[in-house]
Amino acid sequence: MPAKIGVIYYSTYGHVGQLAEAVQAGLEKTGAEVKMFQIQETLSEEVLGKMYAGGSLKPKYPIITPNDLKELDGFLFGFPTRYGRAPAQVSAFFDQTGGLWASGALIGKFAGVFTSTGGQHGGQETTAYTTIPFFVHHGISFVPLGYANAGLSVLDRVEGGAPWGAATIAGGDGSRQPTETELSICTYQGEEFGKHVGTFVRGKELA
Ligand SMILES: Cc1cc2nc3c(=O)[nH]c(=O)nc-3n(C[C@H](O)[C@H](O)[C@H](O)COP(=O)(O)O)c2cc1C
Repeated sequence: MPAKIGVIYYSTYGHVGQLAEAVQAGLEKTGAEVKMFQIQETLSEEVLGKMYAGGSLKPKYPIITPNDLKELDGFLFGFPTRYGRAPAQVSAFFDQTGGLWASGALIGKFAGVFTSTGGQHGGQETTAYTTIPFFVHHGISFVPLGYANAGLSVLDRVEGGAPWGAATIAGGDGSRQPTETELSICTYQGEEFGKHVGTFVRGKELA
């Protein structure tokens, strides 16, 4: 059976949405069954309007529910940074997963993270790092990206991404768009994650 993997993202201005589709392309190369989800917006239309946002109120993909997690072998979570950590929308989603925690429903599953920051040093690593407690308490293994992708060692230009996970840099006004290198790192992360989870799923079938 192919591994079932969810790409689960929240995006206020669309950058992470673009990364999510590049991640999806990488996962699909591995033969995984990929499901795309978005995380429920929690801000009001009025607040989003003041932030010059609103796209998250019209999601392109189904909104993830806690029970969807049970059906998946692995999850790649994407979200922009907020003060160097995950947005409240992500916390609000995990706050609904207490029932899954109580029954140990997610033990043995896998997760990775990709993100977007406004600035080059705005917290790509801290955003992934401070998300790990959600995974640890659920018994989910965090799968890092590592440094094997050459795009992570580029020094002659500004590129997002870290061994913690793929990333883009949106710019202070959100005008910078994901570069080819950043998107290729996303695809690489999807492919590596898909192989990792797929190997586990096949191994479990043999056990
Ligand atoms: C409340 C708030 C806090 C933010 N905090 C940070 C931050 O700590 N570091 C940073 O680089 N960018 C920060 N940003 C910028 C966002 O990360 C940026 O808008 C986002 O990466 C764009 O991704 P999206 O288009 O997928 O929403 C913040 C934005 C908001 C609205």
